[in-house]
Amino acid sequence: MPQTTFDIFRYQPDFSDESYRQSFDLEHESEFTILDAMLELQNEQDGSLAVRYSCRSAICGSCAVRVNGKTVLACMTQVEAVKEEFGCETVRVDPIGNFAPIKDLVVDMDPFWEKFKSVKPYLIPDGPPPEKERIVSKEAMQKIYNESKCILCAACYSECNSFAADPEFVGPAAFAWGYRFAGDERDGQRRARAKLYSGQHGIWDCTRCMYCNERCPKGVDPRDAIEKLGGIAFNEGISWGDPGARHAKAFLISMKTGGKLNETMLVPFTNPIKSQLDVPFALKMMKKGKAPSPIPHRIKRLSEVKKLIKNVKETI
Ligand code: SF4
Ligand code: FES
Repeated sequence: MPQTTFDIFRYQPDFSDESYRQSFDLEHESEFTILDAMLELQNEQDGSLAVRYSCRSAICGSCAVRVNGKTVLACMTQVEAVKEEFGCETVRVDPIGNFAPIKDLVVDMDPFWEKFKSVKPYLIPDGPPPEKERIVSKEAMQKIYNESKCILCAACYSECNSFAADPEFVGPAAFAWGYRFAGDERDGQRRARAKLYSGQHGIWDCTRCMYCNERCPKGVDPRDAIEKLGGIAFNEGISWGDPGARHAKAFLISMKTGGKLNETMLVPFTNPIKSQLDVPFALKMMKKGKAPSPIPHRIKRLSEVKKLIKNVKETI
């Protein structure tokens, strides 16, 4: 039977304000998840080890932890697979990142639920309810299928750079839920939602690090949902106040006109006032040959890029 050492983050505030690490050796079956291991240690070696879980089937979203630095669902991560991936015999287990630990691997999820509630994660149809059930086509549901898969495990927040920098940032899963309803044809609040999500700490504060997409155990792709919400904000004409939105718009115009990014127009378009102040800096860069040519370039198959942009727009 395989033998593994688990190096676990411990925090027992009833006894000490200081966190510490503790190692446990465990002999286990070869088919054994991180959650199986934590429960075995809890049952056999230290009953005070705190871990949150419920379904043990990757459904309830409560067992997210960091394993060797990567956020995963403990119940769907095999110990042997981790050892193989990292080439190690010791597996490090920590609570998810960006949330305060309450005890050992259990964190305070209140900020997560606040953010979730803030996006109004429910249908708000226009007018009174219809007399009969409202049928939605398969194609219409397909548009929000990915976002509907979210199990609220917060793995995406654990890895989110924007949330780490700004705890007020609404964040990936909440926006995925936002799109799940903004993109639902039965909802009557598309414009109001786009306005709400475009405010302070909103969609334009995402740094596009893509870790949420990479780490989400259910393939929700929350960064893509944020992108789709940006598309809705553009279509509703409510995105001009934010530099992040202007940056994205400049990017889009640049791609449509030349098929390539025109960096020279990016800064003045994103931040017109600041760019005036940066003229000496721009001149210095030009002198050193570090500024791209301001003359827009056009690629040969520009029509294909335009077609791609049109296709993406139609999926929003
Ligand atoms: Fe978890 Fe993915 Fe939902 Fe984020 S988007 S809470 S990672 S299921
Ligand atoms: Fe429910 Fe892991 S215990 S998702």
